[in-house]
Amino acid sequence: MKSVTIGIIGGSGGMGRLFEGVFKKSGHHVLIAGRKTVLTYEDLARKSDVVILSAPADASIEICKSVGPLMTEDQLLMDFCSLKEDIVTAMLSYTEKAEVVGTHPMFGPFTESLEGQNIVLCPGRGDKWQAWLKSEFQKLGAEILVMPAITHDKNMAVVQGLTHLLTICTGRTLQKINMTPDDAVLYATPIFRMNIDLIGRLFAQDLELFSMLVGKNRYVPDVIDTFIKAMEEGKRLLVNGCPEEGIRFLEDIKGFLGDFCEEGLKQSNRYLNHVVRKKDNGHPTK
Ligand SMILES: NC(=O)c1ccc[n+]([C@@H]2O[C@H](COP(=O)([O-])OP(=O)(O)OC[C@H]3O[C@@H](n4cnc5c(N)ncnc54)[C@H](OP(=O)(O)O)[C@@H]3O)[C@@H](O)[C@H]2O)c1
Repeated sequence: MKSVTIGIIGGSGGMGRLFEGVFKKSGHHVLIAGRKTVLTYEDLARKSDVVILSAPADASIEICKSVGPLMTEDQLLMDFCSLKEDIVTAMLSYTEKAEVVGTHPMFGPFTESLEGQNIVLCPGRGDKWQAWLKSEFQKLGAEILVMPAITHDKNMAVVQGLTHLLTICTGRTLQKINMTPDDAVLYATPIFRMNIDLIGRLFAQDLELFSMLVGKNRYVPDVIDTFIKAMEEGKRLLVNGCPEEGIRFLEDIKGFLGDFCEEGLKQSNRYLNHVVRKKDNGHPTK
């Protein structure tokens, strides 16, 4: 299959613009429709081989109701939403004929290249377009993982839900003890510097997105309960316990992680060596 027409709904947003560039570079024709464009969602659906829903999840489900019924068996309906169960169910219910693939690029709009980036595909209906999508992304060096929507959402409860909640609550802790970022950076080790940058990074972005990633994933509450129990255990054994108990606690976790520990050490050394804050003159600060 050569050049196709790809219609991106919500294409004015970060992900839409990123993939508009990606698909155009690959030689495809790209159409964009939004709430204020002359091209309507419905016209875009009629003119495109592939329709991508790239709006926030609730809006994408609503838009699906109007474009889904217009689509034929020759077309693909897909999305970029960060949670997959509800959108894949909606795409399957509102289009009876078109092929459907839930798609989650596991990176944000600041990404410079797809090389080495993970993209999850959640099969919905048909396999012709899924194979096309896989090959388009693989050509650009992306790693493709295919999994059911429910498996994706359960994994994202840890990968996004827990990770972002930890960043948010570390920010809250700094606020409560009144350690400003400027104070924190003065005493930073490379690891803490990276953490403080990640806190800033999260709060510099779309807070609705992070609120959704933590708050709308139905599997997050169980992960958080497990995490709180692990925190309590850590506090009991490492903070309040005797040193031997603390070491046993750490060795137990190390046993679970196995050979990955050495690999993680090597990999993290690579990027921690780059975590040096630059002054405007380009010289690193202390
Ligand atoms: N940002 C990320 O890091 C990231 C990563 C992976 C996946 N995603 C997912 O990709 C999708 C797009 O993300 P994004 O960051 O590009 O989002 P975004 O910038 O917030 O929104 C994309 C576009 O959707 C349209 N839109 C926004 N609110 C709408 C509403 N209430 N009703 C109808 N249209 C609306 C807007 O286009 P118009 O104003 O032109 O209508 C907007 O430019 C989301 O589902 C997100 O979860 C995001």
